Amino acid sequence: MAQTAPQSFGIDFGGTGIKGAPVDLEAGDFAAERVRIRTPAPSTPERVAAVFVELLHQFPDCTGAVGVTVPGVVRHGVVRSAANIDKAWIGTDTDRLFTRATGREVHVVNDADGAGLAEVRYGAAKGRSGLVIVTTLGTGIGSAMVYDGVLVPNSELGHLEVEGQDAESRAANSAREREELSWADWAARLTTYYRTLERLFSPELFVVGGGVSKSAAEFLPLVDIDTEIIPAALLNKAGVVGAALYASEGGG
Ligand code: BGC
Repeated sequence: MAQTAPQSFGIDFGGTGIKGAPVDLEAGDFAAERVRIRTPAPSTPERVAAVFVELLHQFPDCTGAVGVTVPGVVRHGVVRSAANIDKAWIGTDTDRLFTRATGREVHVVNDADGAGLAEVRYGAAKGRSGLVIVTTLGTGIGSAMVYDGVLVPNSELGHLEVEGQDAESRAANSAREREELSWADWAARLTTYYRTLERLFSPELFVVGGGVSKSAAEFLPLVDIDTEIIPAALLNKAGVVGAALYASEGGG
């Protein structure tokens, strides 16, 4: 019988949708078509756990570890912040809750950290050494700092204070949409943001992810900084793939 590549299951939990798929860990890609279920309201950890059970039932053949991304600080499986999700997540031991609910080994990771791991292992920053900073521009700004392939978790660079304000309130993609900014006006804000990161960390490379990265040609050339800055390669797969990768390595 042909040897199949190792798989684990990735789940990307976001404010509007919960996406899951078995992931081929050699290819860094979905091993079967992804399923998306609408995020319940209110999106408390218990209600979300029930959705995970439903999702996993649809893939009875994928029996490996399960990784989950959450848009908040996660330390040893416990969520410590919830800027854009239900506050009930704060203090919840999500590794334990989801492991109990699903009967599977579950490891939870910050969403941007998951995406960052995926981009460094399989995507835009594959093979790059030194400090790579992966940012996701969405409702908030997520960040992953990866040094020589090793993640420094929970960097939360979206909440840096830039010009007296929480950076993500000015420079996230949600700010562009809310204020109907032109690409050029948004790029000017991104320039200020990435220049701040440059000054603080002197990275080798910035990778820009989040749904809007598919329109990178519209705004990235207008971001005027000295460091190389490139779009993410995995686009909306990065969360699911990164979660699965994280779980396959036993979590943090
Ligand atoms: C949260 C981060 C998250 C980012 C992207 C921020 O508001 O604090 O934990 O990674 O949004 O979802």
